[in-house]
Amino acid sequence: MTVEDRDAVLGEIESDLTRQFGGGAAISPLSTPNRMGRRVDGIDLSDPLSPAQARLLVTLLDRYQILCFPGQDRHGFDVHDLERITNHFGAPIPHPKNYANYGSGEALELLPVERRASTLNNVSFPGVFECLPGADSPAVYIVSNVPGGGPDADPMIVGGQHWHTDIEFEPVPLSTSMFYVHRVPTTRDAPGGAWVTNPPRDTGFYHPDSPTDLAERREMLPLNGETAYADTAAAYAALPADERHQLDATMVRRRLRRSDAGWLVPLVHTNSRSGTKSLHSPVWASRGKRIAPVEVDGLGEDESRRFLDRLEAHCLRPEFRYDHVHTPGDVTIWSNFATLHVAPPVKQSINDPADARVMYRMSCKGNPSYKLPRHDPQTWIDDNIAPPYRAPLTE
Ligand SMILES: [Fe+2]
Repeated sequence: MTVEDRDAVLGEIESDLTRQFGGGAAISPLSTPNRMGRRVDGIDLSDPLSPAQARLLVTLLDRYQILCFPGQDRHGFDVHDLERITNHFGAPIPHPKNYANYGSGEALELLPVERRASTLNNVSFPGVFECLPGADSPAVYIVSNVPGGGPDADPMIVGGQHWHTDIEFEPVPLSTSMFYVHRVPTTRDAPGGAWVTNPPRDTGFYHPDSPTDLAERREMLPLNGETAYADTAAAYAALPADERHQLDATMVRRRLRRSDAGWLVPLVHTNSRSGTKSLHSPVWASRGKRIAPVEVDGLGEDESRRFLDRLEAHCLRPEFRYDHVHTPGDVTIWSNFATLHVAPPVKQSINDPADARVMYRMSCKGNPSYKLPRHDPQTWIDDNIAPPYRAPLTE
C-alpha cells in the first residue's frame, strides 16, 4: 500500500468496521483526508477484542499511523484496559522509572508505594484528582504535570522535547505507543490566549549548526498541551524516485552510548503487513543528552548530521504535520515506525487542577497478537524487554 491509496479501500474498511463492531462504528479523518490519523467512533474498548477485531485495529493503524478512539471514559475504561489493548499491538515495555533500583544489577524492585508516580499525583490535589485503576502497572508511564503541584505551588513553564521516535535505538525498536487521556489543561492565560508560551531553549538543546528552516520548524510547538506528529511515510513518498531509491539502500548505525559499537539498520522501514515504507526516526540531534548521535553508514558525524537534518526538515514540513488535540477519555495509538512526535511545553508545579495534563502512556514492540494472552518466547522476552515483563494474563 502507498500513502496515496490510503483511502482507495475506504468503503471496504467501513464495512469491516461495522461487521466487526456493529453499525455504530465509524471512521473519519482526524484532520484532512489526505493526512495520517483517523478518529474511530462507536467502539467500546473496555470490551475485550475478538481476534478479528484486534486484527482490524492493527490494519487501521498500519494504514493511518495514528488512531484516536474518543469517549472511552463513558465505558468505565481504565488503565488495565489500556494494557490489555497494548498487548494486541506488541509486547508491553516496562518503564525504568517504575523501579526503585533499575540499572543497579540487583534483583529488581518496584518503587515503594510512597514513591510511585500515582502516589505523587494523588497527594497534590486530594479529593480533586486521583489516578485511575491500573496506573501502577510497571508498564505504565504517567505523563503528568501534577506531581509537585498543589494549591500553594508556584507554576513554571517547561519547554517541549526534541522531535523524536520512542526508543528507536534498541535492536528491536518500539513499534507502537498509546495514551489514555485523563486530564487536559483548560486555562488559557498565556499571551495570545494559549495555555503556555514556548520558552527559549537552553544552549545546546539542538545542534547549533542546524539549518534555519529546520530550527524554525522544530520550535513551532503547540501551546495548549497537544502532541505534534510528523508523517514519515508521506514524507518518504513525496521524495523523488531516485532519492527514495538512495534512501532505500541507506543504513544507519544506532547505539545508546558513544562508546557502543551499535548496529546497522535500514533508515527506511517497510511495514511487513502493509508494505508501506517510511523513514524510521530520521533525526540526528533529537537525542537525549546521554544518547549518541546516529551515524549514516559511510558518512562521518558532521556529514551524517547534515544528511539527517535535511530529512528531518523535510518531515517537519507543514503538509506532513498533524497536531493532535487531546480530550479526556481518548485512547490515542500511534506507530513509531511511521511518525515523529514531540511533547509540547507544559506548565509544571501547577496550583490549579484546571492546569492538569495527565495521560497514561504504554509502549510495545514485536509482532501483534490478535489473541491474548501473548505467547512471546521467553528467550525473546529476555533479549528484548528490559526488565523482562509480561502483562498479567488477559483473555
Ligand atoms: Fe515520545
